[in-house]
Amino acid sequence: MDKLIIEGGQPLAGRVRISGAKNAALPLMAAAILPEEPLKLTNLPALGDLLTMAKLLRFMGGRVSLGGSRLIDENQAELDLTGLNRPEAPHEMVKTMRASALVLGPLLARLGRAKVSMPGGCAIGVRPIDLHLKALRAMGAVFDLSGGDIVARTGRGGLKGAEIRFDTVTVTGTENLMMAAVLAKGRTVIANAAREPEVTDTAQALLAMGAKIEGLDTDVLTIDGVSSLSGTSYRVMPDRIEAGTFMAAVALAGGEIILEDFPHDALATVVAKFRETGLDITPIGTDLNVKARESLWASDVTTQTYPGFPTDMQAQFMAMMTAAQGTSLITETIFENRFMHVSELRRLGADITLEGRTAVVKGVPTLSGAPLTASDLRASAGLVLAALAARGESQLLRVYHLDRGYEGLDRKLNNLGAVIRRVRA
Ligand code: UD1
Repeated sequence: MDKLIIEGGQPLAGRVRISGAKNAALPLMAAAILPEEPLKLTNLPALGDLLTMAKLLRFMGGRVSLGGSRLIDENQAELDLTGLNRPEAPHEMVKTMRASALVLGPLLARLGRAKVSMPGGCAIGVRPIDLHLKALRAMGAVFDLSGGDIVARTGRGGLKGAEIRFDTVTVTGTENLMMAAVLAKGRTVIANAAREPEVTDTAQALLAMGAKIEGLDTDVLTIDGVSSLSGTSYRVMPDRIEAGTFMAAVALAGGEIILEDFPHDALATVVAKFRETGLDITPIGTDLNVKARESLWASDVTTQTYPGFPTDMQAQFMAMMTAAQGTSLITETIFENRFMHVSELRRLGADITLEGRTAVVKGVPTLSGAPLTASDLRASAGLVLAALAARGESQLLRVYHLDRGYEGLDRKLNNLGAVIRRVRA
């Protein structure tokens, strides 16, 4: 298992290219189950979660040219699921990646049956998939629970269009249902749909395959089922959370960097919030220039569904606020247990108190390096960023959380002048 040794106090300079979005790539890989021809995806990030999804699709009988140098060097893959013959997602794969549940909708649409291991609890909250199941049930799917597996099938004639209203906005739930509906009989209307850019990116790829979807970027999606879909080639959108993480890195470490292939529209709320904290931000075509000023100011944030401030940026923003001038209130409304970075940030000298779903963060003049343990993906990013601002050396254990969702965050930061060593723990 690797650990990171981070030497704080080095300002950042230079250019960094934003990788493809993990949370768009995962549903797009699941979407490869749908067409009767191969799907080609480009701008894929080289991440552990994508390799898990590739393994799962291969287990089902797919041919996926992903992994090894192909993904690392070319960031692209061809996914050929025409030979799909085992519509199952076993426990070993689902337990390491909740997003495996994204295969349920496409499998029911394509084969009318599926067996998917029930996703377990996850560090950042309960995260059930009850809303996915309820919506698919409305389309005619029937579920039994057997040995921890969800055994699903459709009635004769397959899935049928339905009017569905999600009780809570769910990102993967919306994607799962949309993928089920594109091959269902008749019209499906999804109300209270997630509007996250990754949902729209998935919809765009489905449109390119011949699907009929209206209402992109809104909270009502109308989908008219078609009898078959064709293959296509699709470029995955840049990762808005990785981009936001680099902006927060400059805020904490100081300096000036250019982010290449910056998803301007998808990050408008985050950019506006970062400007409030005193960052100097200038768009340059498809790039973005970010410059730290002398001081960082406190600002409050409440996580919300898109287009609100994303929960996946909460830990990184909190790291920023630990070093800001003044007190900020950070309220988490999406997940019930997403403050595990708080106790670790305190080890660096941060002044944070928790009041229910709100963290009260009083900025301190200096943080000092300490040994840290990562608890989940975005929390670990927040810890790396805080360590960049801390005086002296920090160590981060359980780096695998970081590697699941960031393509070489330490390597990219080092290219910008940070001093981070990766060693075997
Ligand atoms: C996705 C993202 C994740 C992000 C999250 C919120 C992927 C692969 N992951 O996760 O990075 O943090 O959106 O933006 O895209 N809920 C239920 N029942 C359900 C489904 C969800 O109660 O069936 C609840 C969840 O517990 C949570 C809220 O709804 O409190 C939102 O979750 P959801 O949008 O579904 O998150 P994910 O799609 O799992």
